[in-house]
Amino acid sequence: MPIKIRQPFVPITEVEHAAFCKTEDQLPAKSLAEELAVNVRWQEIPAEYLHYTPEELDQRIHQARRKLGKSVTVLGHHYQREEVIKYADFQGDSFLLSQEAASRPDASYIVFCGVHFMAETACILCAPHQKVILPNLTAGCSMADMAPIEDVEDGWTDLQEALGGHGGIIPITYMNSVASIKALCGRNGGAVCTSSNAGKVVEWGFQQGERVLFLPDQHLGRNTALKLGIPLEQMVVWNPFRRLGGNTPEQLRQAKMVLWQGHCAVHTRFTVKQIETARMRYPDVTVLVHPECTMEAVQAADMNGSTEFIRKTINEAPAGSKWAVGTEISLVNRLSINNPDKTIFCLDPVICPCSTMYRIHPAYLLWVLEGLVAGHVVNEITVPADIKRDALVALERMLALR
Ligand code: 13P
Ligand code: SF4
Repeated sequence: MPIKIRQPFVPITEVEHAAFCKTEDQLPAKSLAEELAVNVRWQEIPAEYLHYTPEELDQRIHQARRKLGKSVTVLGHHYQREEVIKYADFQGDSFLLSQEAASRPDASYIVFCGVHFMAETACILCAPHQKVILPNLTAGCSMADMAPIEDVEDGWTDLQEALGGHGGIIPITYMNSVASIKALCGRNGGAVCTSSNAGKVVEWGFQQGERVLFLPDQHLGRNTALKLGIPLEQMVVWNPFRRLGGNTPEQLRQAKMVLWQGHCAVHTRFTVKQIETARMRYPDVTVLVHPECTMEAVQAADMNGSTEFIRKTINEAPAGSKWAVGTEISLVNRLSINNPDKTIFCLDPVICPCSTMYRIHPAYLLWVLEGLVAGHVVNEITVPADIKRDALVALERMLALR
């Protein structure tokens, strides 16, 4: 079968991240109309929602929530901005939120303040009578966009041909991927992982086969494999725009870890230089980064872990401790506000929120809640039944490893 080569592209979501980089004094809450002035894609919304002030939004959201009562649960990822996360009934990292979505059958509606792949996962895990709503449909993830299912299917076929048959390769996808990739993993003996359990899942993968295809984040894959003792020489990067991902069949046969060439535009901004600067400024600082950062940054840091790990570690740290953090700014700012007895700052002096997480403005939350009050389900996230079935297999393999 001929090997397909695709044209290189940069996901528009990645280009748009830069439009949100700003200095700290530009961060306070604004009406949606003011935020729409930034030149990125937003979902259209009825005009009346554009001009509500933060106070009006707050009052109307509370009113809608009172009317809806327990029929609605609001879930919020740690990267949500302050003026949204305050409405969440539960906050967490991707893993905890997926568990939470699976354990709230009383709520008919799960309003997911996070990004698209998280809402899709909630839809796969929740009960059939529940509906999952994403307040703004343009809240995607630039990393997930780097692995379109067509490229992954082509890559999977090419890999197997190059390796001869199945080749003992197990596909493991990071939660940050579309449901159809999770389904591909489920159908082919693989699993899903999150940043909080990648080590366990990849270890499990090596018990199932000789090698692992890890996607879409090459950095989480590399950092995880290094922790498990796999040397860099046994890892190759799969570039979907090149024949055999840019590898020879021999290189693929020698590899234990095949890393899809994807990355997070927010986390790859953190550098060793920034870590050195933080250490010069505060010799007793602890550097804590997310494992989506590059290998160099992770190795120069003192600790790394999921957003929940970062939150818990800093919240439980002794008063007076100092933390330089390499993750999304909304979480770093919240930690700093909630821990006034500690010094907490972001490694990157330029403030770059995750632009897709940032698209959940309170006006969108209000729009979907008032829709429910009026009996309309706005922005429901659905997953076709066959994809749901196979993706569930991959998710359950992950959940069983806890
Ligand atoms: P967590 O799984 O740590 O919440 O991370 C999700 C994410 O998208 C980080 O960029
Ligand atoms: Fe995706 Fe990066 Fe945003 Fe996480 S921080 S949702 S990986 S773009």
